[in-house]
Amino acid sequence: MTTHFLRDDDLTPDAQRAVLELAQQLKSGAVAPRPLEGRAVAVIFDKASTRTRVSFSVGVHELGGYPLVLDSATTQSGRGESVEDTVRVLDRHVAAIVWRTYAQAGLERAAAVSAVPVVNALTDEFHPCQVLADLQTVAEHCGGLAAEGPALAGRSLAYLGDGANNMAHSYLLGGVTAGLDVRIGAPADYAPDPAVVDRAHAIASRTGGSVLVTTDAREAVDGVTAVATDTWVSMGQEQEAGDRESPFVPYRVDEDLMARGNDAVFLHCLPVYRGLEATAEVVDGDRSVIWDEAENRRHAQKAVLLHLLGGLT
Ligand code: CP
Ligand code: NVA
Repeated sequence: MTTHFLRDDDLTPDAQRAVLELAQQLKSGAVAPRPLEGRAVAVIFDKASTRTRVSFSVGVHELGGYPLVLDSATTQSGRGESVEDTVRVLDRHVAAIVWRTYAQAGLERAAAVSAVPVVNALTDEFHPCQVLADLQTVAEHCGGLAAEGPALAGRSLAYLGDGANNMAHSYLLGGVTAGLDVRIGAPADYAPDPAVVDRAHAIASRTGGSVLVTTDAREAVDGVTAVATDTWVSMGQEQEAGDRESPFVPYRVDEDLMARGNDAVFLHCLPVYRGLEATAEVVDGDRSVIWDEAENRRHAQKAVLLHLLGGLT
């Protein structure tokens, strides 16, 4: 059976720790495998991207492969060719398919017919590659990876803002897989999907992590290792932008909220809108690790591709 990376919980705690260890080795240069020599990886964008496009393109190149970057505007998928037919063509040519799209269900339809691994490069529901990079970044700045067991056992992460978006859902699933205490601080009308929260509780019960969903931003950040946020208007929600500001103002990450953490680092997947979800002082302040986080996309994604393609050989 082909293995895919569609959601954060597609990696077990042990597999996630192994991927993060490999990401660190790739970053340090301790290993430099090139298993994609002579092969291509399709990287498809149905939405805009800077970091994902660059980090997968350069990462596939560093693994010896050719990044075949496609988009729906210039392929037949934009004219109605089905996901299934597109995948059945691509998988005759490429070693893996990396896809940024809208509904998670579309990505799952792709995986259901693909003979090669499919990787989620962001959907409306999840952004698992980003959260792997974030976990790598927390490990770098906050005590390292655990030698065994869940990767970040004993540490905590608060996410403030739109609790119903892809980043919140991926922090929940990826975070508890790593053994984190994950806190979501969000308005009641923008709470996470209950099915994702239930799944996070189930994983946490096995990893020693925990889950808190609260409308109180201060409760969410009290004593945490890392504070994260994201845009209040995700791709595809542009028409709601007018309604997506005032409910979130109490969740704007400022220096007062950061001071409630335990010398916490600040994370943001980027792009960031200074003065909205976080103040410029925090984004550009000395606890911000956003540029390491952006770099770690490449290392974490190379490690995921290696994992899906059978390891270092
Ligand atoms: N963080 C992230 O996925 O950025 P892009 O949308 O630029 O790829
Ligand atoms: N939640 C954001 C993440 C962007 C990387 C979005 O989906 O637009």
